[in-house]
Amino acid sequence: MLTNDSYELLRQLASPIVAVTSAHGGRTNGMILDSAVRATISPEHPRLSVYVHKWHLSHELIWASGRFAAHLLDQDQFDVVHQLGFRSGRNVADKLAGIPCRVGEGGVPVLERCHAAFECRVLNTMDAGPATLYLGEIVATHAGTTGALLTADYFRANLPEAWREEFLKNYREAQERIRDLAAVTDVRRWGA
Ligand SMILES: Cc1cc2nc3c(=O)[nH]c(=O)nc-3n(C[C@H](O)[C@H](O)[C@H](O)COP(=O)(O)O)c2cc1C
Repeated sequence: MLTNDSYELLRQLASPIVAVTSAHGGRTNGMILDSAVRATISPEHPRLSVYVHKWHLSHELIWASGRFAAHLLDQDQFDVVHQLGFRSGRNVADKLAGIPCRVGEGGVPVLERCHAAFECRVLNTMDAGPATLYLGEIVATHAGTTGALLTADYFRANLPEAWREEFLKNYREAQERIRDLAAVTDVRRWGA
């Protein structure tokens, strides 16, 4: 993967590891991200945002349905990260197979076991070039397990050796796609 001193500083802005699930037209899916942000300071208007690359199956399902669920995970849920975050649902028949889920609002799967689950309705989107920033209104929150939270730092520091090569290959491939798509961003400058 590409990196430099500035990017290593920027990586410290990663969110905890989040599993995002989605559903549309009878298809369900899940992915992993570490780019979720609390997008509110008020419990009266609970919101969060996620940064989802446009080529992911999850992007397509969230775009079409206007819904997703975001889950914080526990430190012992590396298996969920591997199952959802290393291969696209475009190449897997049922990416959530074997992960116990119940059906949430709008048919979106909600992981039975997680640290916390937030069911969201998309309020707005921002075109970020290679990705879309989905702003979600949280329509239901579920408290889950009380173990230690799985952070991005913890995940990287404890990445099993057997997964490292695949993780870095996926990272590199995503960075190459970004190089192509970043150039076509319709940048809007405030005040221009
Ligand atoms: C630790 C980790 C962090 C990730 N962060 C992001 C992210 O912030 N945004 C994103 O679009 N993909 C991210 N990914 C990659 C997707 O989870 C992965 O490509 C997934 O297979 C996409 O699935 P889909 O095509 O089935 O939707 C991350 C993966 C891992 C393992």
